[in-house]
Amino acid sequence: MITPLVMGNWKMAIDLDGVVSFKAMWSSKRLLKGVEVAIAPPVPYLALMTDLPNVSLAGQDASTQSIGARTGDVSAKMLSDFTCRYVIVGHSERRQNYAEANEQIAEKARQVQALGMTPVVCVGESASEREAGLAEDFVTRQVIDSCVGLTSDLVIAYEPVWAIGSGEAASPEIASAMHGRIKAALAESLGDIRVLYGGSVSVTNCASFSKAPEVDGLLVGGASLEAESFWQICASVGESS
Ligand code: PGA
Repeated sequence: MITPLVMGNWKMAIDLDGVVSFKAMWSSKRLLKGVEVAIAPPVPYLALMTDLPNVSLAGQDASTQSIGARTGDVSAKMLSDFTCRYVIVGHSERRQNYAEANEQIAEKARQVQALGMTPVVCVGESASEREAGLAEDFVTRQVIDSCVGLTSDLVIAYEPVWAIGSGEAASPEIASAMHGRIKAALAESLGDIRVLYGGSVSVTNCASFSKAPEVDGLLVGGASLEAESFWQICASVGESS
């Protein structure tokens, strides 16, 4: 059986005091079994996170370039130097705020794989695409175009844009149906791929996702900033697996 993965995405939503108190609280918690835990901190805090027991590190984004004059960018190699195991690419906030297209995201993911790390490729439809009945076709296109040239060392995160940070998570049924569609789209070229659900995951709804078919883990934003709530989410996935 595949071990489920729960990844915390701290975005730009934490400061140094928050990182220090997260670490102190997390270190007092029981070690978890049956779940792989990863955290994607802001880059300046990566070096502070390398000693957290049983937690893999992740980058929140990587450049399409390996080196050079790219002010503000972070290369996959830099993330690998700080022991990152995963790198998120194509988060909807990057797609929206920086107009990142599927082709660029695929290039970022290839850079990540070339360094031996696993890209977590984010996809998800907007509210208007869902209302128009286009969600499954839209997400399938995103998945295919964002995974060009990749090997099977890959995770997909399905995060409907309308569910991110809104407090309105997708239902487990919506997640299961979309995950099945994503897996089917990649099965022939890449085999079995883990698909995480993300978007307003909380202490209250996490257990329903961990029981849902085709859901291989969670990508957690707001509820990962506090060690107590993130630990509870990870524990619900681990203990139910
Ligand atoms: P959220 O964010 O859990 O705060 O909705 C999820 C994400 O953007 O990865």
